[in-house]
Amino acid sequence: MEDEGCSIVLDVGSGSTKIGYSGDDLPLSVLPSVIVSAAPVSDSRDTPSRAQRPECRECYRGYDSLHPEDHATRDIWPVQKGQCQSTADLETLLHNVFRTELGSGAEAQRPVLLTESPSTTRARRAEAAELLFEGLKAPALSMCNTASLSLFAAGRTRGLVVECGAGAAHAVPVFEGYALAHAALRVDAAGRDVTLRLAQLLQQQHGSSGGSGSGSGGSAPLSLDVVRAIKERMCHVLPRGGGGAAAEEDIGAAAAAAAADMKYELPDGSIVRISGECAAEPAEVLFENKHGRGGLASAAAAAIAMCDEQVRTDLRGAVVLSGGTTMLPGFCERFAQELEAAIDGGSGGAAPAADGLVRRPLTVVPHARAREPGYTAQRKYAAWIGGSIVASLSTFRLLQVSRQEYEDAGAGALHRRCL
Ligand SMILES: Nc1ncnc2c1ncn2[C@@H]1O[C@H](COP(=O)(O)OP(=O)(O)OP(=O)(O)O)[C@@H](O)[C@H]1O
Ligand SMILES: [Mg+2]
Repeated sequence: MEDEGCSIVLDVGSGSTKIGYSGDDLPLSVLPSVIVSAAPVSDSRDTPSRAQRPECRECYRGYDSLHPEDHATRDIWPVQKGQCQSTADLETLLHNVFRTELGSGAEAQRPVLLTESPSTTRARRAEAAELLFEGLKAPALSMCNTASLSLFAAGRTRGLVVECGAGAAHAVPVFEGYALAHAALRVDAAGRDVTLRLAQLLQQQHGSSGGSGSGSGGSAPLSLDVVRAIKERMCHVLPRGGGGAAAEEDIGAAAAAAAADMKYELPDGSIVRISGECAAEPAEVLFENKHGRGGLASAAAAAIAMCDEQVRTDLRGAVVLSGGTTMLPGFCERFAQELEAAIDGGSGGAAPAADGLVRRPLTVVPHARAREPGYTAQRKYAAWIGGSIVASLSTFRLLQVSRQEYEDAGAGALHRRCL
């Protein structure tokens, strides 16, 4: 619940916007990061079909109210691959979110902590600041990158954060709360790519982009919304090296349950059947070596390698996963295996190094089996939760830039104080 001195914590992702008050355990609302613009029905070249629409889910209440099924509208996703595509569209989205979730009273006029992607540029930060101060009339603003915040949510200030959301993935070393930008790497494969791959496989399997109907296939195309819901219910990640009986054990109880339930019932009552291969294959896009660039685990290993040896020890001791896509059953196990293989030829860094010292073993959080209380399921909202923690500290005001300071010094004041 909000109290007098609390701030608004805002995390605008490529897939969903999380908003709420500092000090709370979870966001007040999670809404799709989409706005709907009116488009003439005849303008079919510009109007994406349902199957082409980007994914969204989470808070259906926002989406449903924004989304009349009259095909006379066009969905616009102002943030793609973690980056704002249009400040004007983002402003419309945020006006909607503030109005519907916070109302128009004093509660909407609080200091704002806005998260930013680890690959945000200074220019984009300045645009976001202008939007918040001038468009939304925020009295004070602070901007913190999602990697540092995710690490705080896991109760740490040093570690390697591996974030995988809807639009983009990053591997970011963080030391004493600050992201080491020189060693932060981005990978262009995330949840939306998994959804698109699943849509493709369903199309091949059923001869349509989903195969609705009585189970043997049909011709009605499935929207990406539905494909994403199927993904979240039924997809999993296999251990390194593929399937087999041991693999079934390794993917854990949740994945096994998901794998056993290979039918998905659509809202109209028809059934989509999914083969084991179809449930496991889509997530492979996260680990693929494309165009000579490795997947997420290779990026994580490379990010560690770019840091000083002393920092590397801390990074190996806490590789923290965050973002919705890491919720795929089996993801933690597979990621840990891939990372071990990518670091020091499989020793995970624990083998004696050239100087004879035994390095700290690799620890991926959450551990596949030894669950961390409090963090395991919450990593989906880790950046927001970290923002809620930071904004409730007494030292938070040191990160804040007031409207007056912004008017006097411009965005430079923010560059100096952002986390
Ligand atoms: N239980 C789940 N299993 C598999 N995938 C999931 C699950 N829950 C959420 N996801 C996926 O996670 C993604 C959303 O994650 P998240 O909210 O971290 O991204 P975002 O912040 O909107 O985007 P980004 O940070 O990439 O800009 C979506 O692709 C969604 O389908
Ligand atoms: Mg995100």
